[in-house]
Amino acid sequence: MLLVSEYPHNLTIVPGSLALTCGVLMATDTTISREHFLLPWTVQEREDPVLVFERGEGVYFFDHEGKRYLDLLAQIFNCNLGHGNRHVIEAIHRQAEKACCVSPSVLTKERAEMAQALVDKTPGDLNTCFFVNSGSEADDQAFIIARMVTGRKKIMSKYRSYHGTTYGTLGVGGDPRRMAVDPGPPGTVRFFGPYCYRCDFGMTYPDCQLHCIDALERQLELENPATVAAIVVEPVTGAAGGFPLPDGYLTRLRDICDRYGILLIADEVITGFGRTGAWFGVDHEKVVPDIMVLAKGLTSGYVPMGAVVVRDHIADYFESRMLPIGSTYAAHPLACAAAQACIEEYERQNLIPHAKRMGEVLFKKLRELAEHHPRVGDVRGKGLLACLELVQGKDDPRPLVPANTDSPIPMQLRRRLWEEGLFALARASLLMLAPPLIIEEEHINEAVEKLDKVLDWVDQLSP
Ligand SMILES: Cc1ncc(COP(=O)(O)O)c(C=O)c1O
Repeated sequence: MLLVSEYPHNLTIVPGSLALTCGVLMATDTTISREHFLLPWTVQEREDPVLVFERGEGVYFFDHEGKRYLDLLAQIFNCNLGHGNRHVIEAIHRQAEKACCVSPSVLTKERAEMAQALVDKTPGDLNTCFFVNSGSEADDQAFIIARMVTGRKKIMSKYRSYHGTTYGTLGVGGDPRRMAVDPGPPGTVRFFGPYCYRCDFGMTYPDCQLHCIDALERQLELENPATVAAIVVEPVTGAAGGFPLPDGYLTRLRDICDRYGILLIADEVITGFGRTGAWFGVDHEKVVPDIMVLAKGLTSGYVPMGAVVVRDHIADYFESRMLPIGSTYAAHPLACAAAQACIEEYERQNLIPHAKRMGEVLFKKLRELAEHHPRVGDVRGKGLLACLELVQGKDDPRPLVPANTDSPIPMQLRRRLWEEGLFALARASLLMLAPPLIIEEEHINEAVEKLDKVLDWVDQLSP
């Protein structure tokens, strides 16, 4: 296996894996091409053929040749309401007719109403919102706010975490994607979070009694807690590993933050809005973070939007002091319309308990599937956020793709999924699923039946 920097970018494809029947576009196609695009998170030439999205409908979408895909990723963990939700589309239309372009420093009735609807859902005294345009921006601004309010410089984050793609967030995230900005930004300190399948401390949950949080406290003492502005965690890590925080972890973390005057930031960009079977990931433990970071499900991806929601003590800080940040498109009218309509839809369709129920169905079936696929080492996650960790074999739990190496396998796996009409995330040794919350049992059955075939293919890959 080669290191990332050594990897030759012309891939060897496993025979048969690219005999695609789906509507993917070869590089030679002149009508729709990637020629003028830099696609994210990829070596460009590897993306040939490119999947071309034509239109979406509920939990499905169709490519330009009419092939149907079951969207097991809600596009990129965001399309929680599924494709083509009329209530959201019509709300955006209505707002577009009324006002598309409004200065971020004035209020509108819709802005005020949407902020009210949002804080009605966020727990505790998370009562005040600062709007931005993406999850990255929201985390970025949350870090600035935390530094200002505490007068401290350090942000602590987990190894195996992701908090966005800006300079200020990519380097805080702890997975290999930070390579473009490593070792920045200054003041970033990482710690080992809970990874129960491969515990960094060689322990087993729950016998470990959350040894990892004790270790974090010891690290903090050495770091000098008076220099730490905030600790940021995802309640369930998204694409950096799919790890749920084990029961009790967040409560202990809240307690540590309180004792040392450190702000707790919950990055709920993925976990917010029902993804884990509760409105927010922190709700499972009834923990109130000082800052909650939101995006994705906030507008179900229909219009870009992020939000930093802060507790009263932080909002109060800025009553008499300058808040020296803001962006042109903050609280964009179309995004506000989409967010308001999404919150109404989550309620009207009762989607949060539905996601919990469907999550139970999904996990039961994935665990059954894992039993007869030796390459599935771990099935983890929460609600409708599921991660399969692929390994060398049942008796060989080494990752299928070793850390910090490059491999054609994730891309081949993605294409094998497309062949079956499935859309999911394959990254390193992880296969991640996060379908729209409107998914029903019949769709889960379809997904599992097709995944079974894809995992047969994984099982027979040469090591
Ligand atoms: C936990 C988490 N935080 C932040 C981000 C960044 O959000 P965005 O891609 O909207 O900038 C992501 C994106 O996937 C995420 O998963």
